[in-house]
Amino acid sequence: MTEHKINVVPRGGNGGQAASGQKLKFHIMRFNPADPESRPHLQTYELEQTAGMTLFIALNEIRENLDPSLQFDFVCRAGICGSCAMVINGRPGLACRTLAQDVGPEITLAPLPVFELIGDLSVNTGKWMRAMSERLQAWCHLQEQQADLTRLEERMDPELAEQIFELDRCIECGCCVAGCGTARMREDFIGAVGINKIARFRLDPRDARTDADYYDVIGDDDGVFGCMSLLGCHDVCPKDLPLQTQIAFIRRKMAAQGFK
Ligand code: SF4
Ligand code: F3S
Ligand code: FES
Repeated sequence: MTEHKINVVPRGGNGGQAASGQKLKFHIMRFNPADPESRPHLQTYELEQTAGMTLFIALNEIRENLDPSLQFDFVCRAGICGSCAMVINGRPGLACRTLAQDVGPEITLAPLPVFELIGDLSVNTGKWMRAMSERLQAWCHLQEQQADLTRLEERMDPELAEQIFELDRCIECGCCVAGCGTARMREDFIGAVGINKIARFRLDPRDARTDADYYDVIGDDDGVFGCMSLLGCHDVCPKDLPLQTQIAFIRRKMAAQGFK
């Protein structure tokens, strides 16, 4: 296999349900871009499934017992850090939150597309997220009078705080970007993760920016108008963020701003 292309298919694309003690076959994309001799190919490993085995546990077992050269990323093992995102049977997801029994017994793993490949299943989502966040200035732009650190923070309506928190649950895993046809075609597209960030700061009363300011950063085809409503982002987000609603809402607001 020479081309690094993965299609997004429904969860459990292989259709199987592996029982405990059953043999699992992992077909894992191997490629080391730093090695001129390396060519992308699928390598197969066999493991016996144990009760409650996640793909995180399986990959560690493969690395410990079968192949110490296998590269993949994990930090929290609890669906919080976002670093274990990969393409599982054609669908972006978190390896630490995926049970082998739900996707086996034949499991194909590949790195997320769009992001820079470090090696095998490891990609540099941090570099992409940082560039996107800098471009969108994804931080709270405080009103001048609020920039006094000794001032008590303004109270916030709990309902509004809850709405902001809902969008702040994004773990920057990159699944929505990997599952988006536009992001695959358009290198600078900010993806659902970027649009969600704007939605989050737009809600925040401490942020002094207006819709005209937001339009300046996302009012083009690399921003909200590049989104073709494919909704792969919404389907694959492991945190179930309301991406569909937020994208539609921000697009309406930016379109209204564009006609002003
Ligand atoms: Fe991951 Fe969802 Fe955030 Fe996208 S919006 S980066 S899929 S948590
Ligand atoms: Fe992509 Fe989601 Fe829009 S998949 S095209 S960002 S609706
Ligand atoms: Fe942190 Fe999976 S290891 S989300």
